Formats: sequence, C-alpha cells, structure tokens
Amino acid sequence: MRELPLTENELNPLDSLEQWEDDLLVRYPEPEHKAKDEYRNYDNPARDTVREFYRLNHTYQTYDFVRQKEAEFLKFDKKEMPVWGAMEFLNTLVDDSDPDIELDQLQHLLQTAEAIRADGHPDWFVLTGFLHDMGKVLCLFGEPQWAVVGDTFPVGCAHSDRIVYPEFFDANPDSKDERYNTKYGVYEPNCGLKNVHMSWGHDEYLYQMTKNHLPEPALYMIRYHSFYAQHRENAYDHLMDDHDREMFKWVKKFNPYDLYSKSPKPPVVSELKPYYEDLIAKYLPATIRL
Ligand SMILES: [Fe+2]
Ligand SMILES: [Fe+2]
Repeated sequence: MRELPLTENELNPLDSLEQWEDDLLVRYPEPEHKAKDEYRNYDNPARDTVREFYRLNHTYQTYDFVRQKEAEFLKFDKKEMPVWGAMEFLNTLVDDSDPDIELDQLQHLLQTAEAIRADGHPDWFVLTGFLHDMGKVLCLFGEPQWAVVGDTFPVGCAHSDRIVYPEFFDANPDSKDERYNTKYGVYEPNCGLKNVHMSWGHDEYLYQMTKNHLPEPALYMIRYHSFYAQHRENAYDHLMDDHDREMFKWVKKFNPYDLYSKSPKPPVVSELKPYYEDLIAKYLPATIRL
C-alpha cells in the first residue's frame, strides 16, 4: 500500500472547495455566457491550484483507495444528527481565509434547490437540489479535498482521456496494473454502473446515506452529479446499461441547476427553512447517520 500524502498542501491544495466548482464553469460555461477571461488565463494562480488538486486526485484515487474509503465511511458510525443540523455542520466548511467567497455551502444548496423549484419540478427534485452536496461533510472528518470533491470517474478499469487532466493518471499505480488498466478492467461490457466503483467523494457517500429514502432519479442525480466524463463527455458508454442511459437523462437535467444557479441575491435562510424542513420530513428520517 502506498503511503498517502500528509502535508497540509497535499491534503488541501485548494483555497476552498468552491475553487473546483469555479473551474467547472470555465470548462463548461453556461451556453449564453462566456467564462470570465481572467479565469481562462492559465497564469492565473487559481488554475495552478486546481491543477495541483487534480494531480493529487488522479494520483491517489486508486481502486484500493476507494475500497478502503467505502469500508471506512459506509459504516456511518461517525455522527447522528437531523438533516438540517448536518447542513449547518456543512456550513462550517466556509473558509475564513478567503474574504471573497460570498456563497457558502448552504447558500449553494438553497440556490440550486430554489432554481429547480422555480421551474416547477416535483418536490423530490427540489429536495435533491437541496441535499446534493451534503456529502461534503467528509471534509469535516479530516478527509483530503481530493477525496471529497472533484470530477469522479470509474476505478478498476482504464482512465478515459476525456477526464480532465488525464496526463496525471500516469502517476496512478492502477494505470500500470494489468488488472485495472484495460478498457473493462474488473468489469464486464455494459455491466451497469451499479456494479462499478467510482472514485471516492461526496457523491457516493451521500448516495449511500439516502438510498432507501428517495426516488431513483434523485439517487442517480446525487450519485453521478460529478461524473462529468460521462454526463458531459459520454466516455464510459461501454460500462452503462440501458437503465443507466434512461436515468442519466435526470443527471443531465440536474447539472445546469448545480452549475448555473448562482444568483447575486443570496437566499434568506430563515425564510426558506420551514419549507425545506417540511420537505426533509416528508422523505427522510428524523436523524441521519454520517
Ligand atoms: Fe457536488
Ligand atoms: Fe453542487
């Protein structure tokens, strides 16, 4: 087993978790808006930070690492609290060192959910918008940023060159391991994503937390919302089955709400809280285990 990096820079290369999401907007700008020019500039220090983040992510997210994190976190023996309490807990993620961050985690979730609600979608879709990043509480258990956020991808088979910064996979030991470096690796053709292990992060963690409580399209949106190599790039059609293809219509429908719902007017948490508390009570148990 490789020793994992331990320095502060290797644990937390990003100034804040939002830096990853800001970079997604550069890669996938909203059709009618262009990405900010200063951000496109590759001399921008924020881009270097994101590069370093992906270098670490692609180097250390191996098949074994993922299995180990699944065993560690899917026991859900860390904490038990109401969903709203978990959201407030998540909100402590906001990085004090960056005064420019206007939107904290809870606000991103409320803005995503409110945009879905404004378009008249069913209430479970709205709830999904509200919950989708709750798995980022992993950061509060001391997990490195590259094991919480970032694009996700299948492990146990060849890395697609349509994943962002594919060159960094050269340093991933799985890319030299013949069990894992073929097109299908440990999987069968079109075996369905339910049989595929994804790189570890907030998506899989929240899916496992909510899988007995939400409708299936909601669970797909939660589980695969960071799988850009598929929902934007179609790089893993060979692992998908027909059911995945049907359900990915929902994943694609969700993505613009996640990326493009930032509004300059921050939602007023106290006004929205009763509506979301009711929605949580309708679908989820009184407390959840982290
Ligand atoms: Fe997310
Ligand atoms: Fe998000």
